[in-house]
Amino acid sequence: MFFKIVSLIVSALFVVTNSEDFGFIYNGFNRANLSLDGIAQFTSNGLLELTNTSRLQKGHAFYPTPINFKNLQNGSNFSFPTTFVFAIVPSVLPGHGMAFVIAPVGGLVDALPSPFLGLFNDNTTGRVSNHVFAVEFDTLQNREFNDIDGNHVGIDINGLKSVESKTAGYYYGVKFNNMTLASGQPMQGWVDYDGVAKQINVTLAPMNVAKPNVPLLSLLYDLSPILNETMHIGFSGSTGSVVSTQYVLGWSFEMNGIAQGLDLARLPKLPRVGPKKQSKLLLVALPMISAVVVVIAFSVLIYYVGRKRKFAELLEDWELEYGPHRFKYKDLYIATKGFANKKLLGCGGFGRVYKGVLPTSSIEVAVKKVSHDSKQGLREFVAEIVSIGRLRHRNLVQLLGYCRRKGELLLVYEYMPNGSLDKFLYDKPICALSWNQRFRVIKGVASALVYLHEEWEQVVIHRDVKASNVLLDSELNAKLGDFGLARLYDHGTDPLTTHVVGTVGYLAPEQTRTGKATTISDVYAFGAFLLEVACGRRPIDPRVSDEDIVLVDYVFSCWSRGDILQSIDQNLGNEYVKEEVELVLKLGLVCSQTEPTRRRSMRQVLIYLEDIVPPPLPELSLLQSSAHYFSFPGFDHHLSMSSSFSPEKVLSYPSTDSNSLPFTGP
Ligand SMILES: *[C@@H]1O[C@H](CO)[C@@H](O)[C@H](O)[C@H]1NC(C)=O
Ligand SMILES: *[C@@H]1O[C@H](CO)[C@@H](O)[C@H](O)[C@H]1NC(C)=O
Ligand SMILES: *[C@@H]1O[C@H](CO)[C@@H](O)[C@H](O)[C@H]1NC(C)=O
Ligand SMILES: *[C@@H]1O[C@H](CO)[C@@H](O)[C@H](O)[C@H]1NC(C)=O
Ligand SMILES: *[C@@H]1O[C@H](CO)[C@@H](O)[C@H](O)[C@H]1NC(C)=O
Ligand SMILES: *[C@@H]1O[C@H](CO)[C@@H](O)[C@H](O)[C@H]1NC(C)=O
Ligand SMILES: *[C@@H]1O[C@H](CO)[C@@H](O)[C@H](O)[C@H]1NC(C)=O
Ligand SMILES: *[C@@H]1O[C@H](CO)[C@@H](O)[C@H](O)[C@H]1NC(C)=O
Repeated sequence: MFFKIVSLIVSALFVVTNSEDFGFIYNGFNRANLSLDGIAQFTSNGLLELTNTSRLQKGHAFYPTPINFKNLQNGSNFSFPTTFVFAIVPSVLPGHGMAFVIAPVGGLVDALPSPFLGLFNDNTTGRVSNHVFAVEFDTLQNREFNDIDGNHVGIDINGLKSVESKTAGYYYGVKFNNMTLASGQPMQGWVDYDGVAKQINVTLAPMNVAKPNVPLLSLLYDLSPILNETMHIGFSGSTGSVVSTQYVLGWSFEMNGIAQGLDLARLPKLPRVGPKKQSKLLLVALPMISAVVVVIAFSVLIYYVGRKRKFAELLEDWELEYGPHRFKYKDLYIATKGFANKKLLGCGGFGRVYKGVLPTSSIEVAVKKVSHDSKQGLREFVAEIVSIGRLRHRNLVQLLGYCRRKGELLLVYEYMPNGSLDKFLYDKPICALSWNQRFRVIKGVASALVYLHEEWEQVVIHRDVKASNVLLDSELNAKLGDFGLARLYDHGTDPLTTHVVGTVGYLAPEQTRTGKATTISDVYAFGAFLLEVACGRRPIDPRVSDEDIVLVDYVFSCWSRGDILQSIDQNLGNEYVKEEVELVLKLGLVCSQTEPTRRRSMRQVLIYLEDIVPPPLPELSLLQSSAHYFSFPGFDHHLSMSSSFSPEKVLSYPSTDSNSLPFTGP
């Protein structure tokens, strides 16, 4: 307290804190004077709460005055130790993380939440002009920034690609012990900079362990060019579609001195989660109460037997390793008000989707109910779902977890407030998207597919790329959903039949012949998607004149007449960039070629879309007309025009038996 008062007086005397042996200590933040912004706040018992369970938020807490790092007796060889106690309490999956930060401006203007940790944004990360030093405690792996895992500590200089990072842990002697950042438990952190040796050390330890001699991270780096004369010091935290409540319990900082240890016993307590301890009174009264309880228990028993059946779920031994990703059926039931019709968001090819609000964390989610009666293959499928849950890309809908019941699988996704893209394109769109918005959506989906095809640890084939599987968040950013789901229908099927899953109009011809999905068949679907977005209509539209029913044929005929722009969505008016629209339409045709080898990979497609000077497009005269569009057995072209046919339906047919009915619902 004494040091705090001194530091307050010091900061009151000088606008810029100028003292060489300047320092402060907060054992808890009761009546502390820090500048907060975002959702950061102090709790009534003196915790600094950087973030709570609100999604997509950031929180900052900075020491109220800037600190002078340069104008010291010893020139630029400043040193500082700082120590703090923090805690990250996850809800479901943890996200995204927090950081100790030294920055030229308190509040870090324009910084974004989610993977940017409230420090930078798309444009600023990595810029030399940032002058930002941070130590991140990152609880979610983001491959964009080369994160090593979802539980690491990293030294960040001017950007989110850490200069050095390690899995969280501490050395006890020479033995390394892992730590879980998002354990919900307080832990100690130290950041020490020696300006003469130009060395940064970062050390972590549980509460009951003294500061280890060997730091977790040690980096030789001269901070004097990074740190401006006056800098702000503090903390930043952020949440995304997954959230954690992130706290700082105490903090001390010393310029050119030895950090004052925190008084761990005086730090505020974290809010209690879980059951309350038994009080003394309860212990005395326990025998009496238990007698009453027995009576009540009997009467409640009957009620619970019924209830138990209602909330019964399947959990087998092999699933235990997926523990954190399992949701309780009861929670999902409560979240969706018992899967009430008014919570229904839509019916996709794989099942109904409900909106829900998770009971404890009040996170908004979308719950997809997939019915599935085949037990065979489900194990692989769940393993795959869980591994897919580890996919992270800003243009993929985040899978948060799952729950399994008899004959039923429930998948829990982040909630996308603006729903699916098709509602903005055709069938009396809610509001037609502008060309800029469409182009951004296209590039987003392309980069998500590049990530699935090439950038993740294994190749993921989407199998059902289409506008109705692209969802829009509150800022109309595109996120691809439903990836990998089509696999469900691959597992446990009769070896004599092959089910083709996908949507008519987006299915590559070779896929319908061989029943095999590849990254190149995804490219075909993406081609149909490009045309769909630019032309504002479905790939197959039975309502237009006969020869124009198939969109790709229509665009192709416009192109061969020398007027490809004739095919674009009338809703765009004249508000578009001619070169971009032409590029998208031609690229759509290139991707829609019948011959798979003529299509381009998703990465090449993305290069065409992203490059200011794209490489020349392949010769379009090589394009075959898509007369082979429906060249699989048993398909009568006119069948698709019958009024009962819905192009949205998942199609599945036995490819070895061309006499059987071509369309049967799954
Ligand atoms: C907090 O610190 C700032 C900067 O020194 C000062 O202007 C402000 O008056 C202080 N507020 C309180 C409540 O002490
Ligand atoms: C999180 O904190 C902000 C700012 O104090 C508040 O507006 C919001 O309601 C909080 N959210 C939750 C889920 O408690
Ligand atoms: C500061 O560092 C420079 C270069 O590392 C060294 O030459 C100089 O002697 C140091 N100054 C002091 C006061 O330690
Ligand atoms: C600063 O200089 C003084 C003597 O001039 C020396 O005792 C002290 O160790 C120096 N501090 C640093 C951080 O170099
Ligand atoms: C930090 O210092 C650099 C040069 O040393 C200067 O260009 C930049 O404007 C400074 N940044 C701030 C925010 O003061
Ligand atoms: C990044 O820069 C682009 C182009 O200047 C701009 O449209 C976008 O809004 C910027 N993003 C942020 C987060 O500032
Ligand atoms: C510590 O974590 C790393 C990375 O997750 C893992 O490879 C290693 O096996 C863990 N070690 C222990 C002792 O748990
Ligand atoms: C950093 O750690 C090393 C031991 O690994 C130690 O020799 C050095 O003095 C430490 N530096 C600081 C600034 O704590």
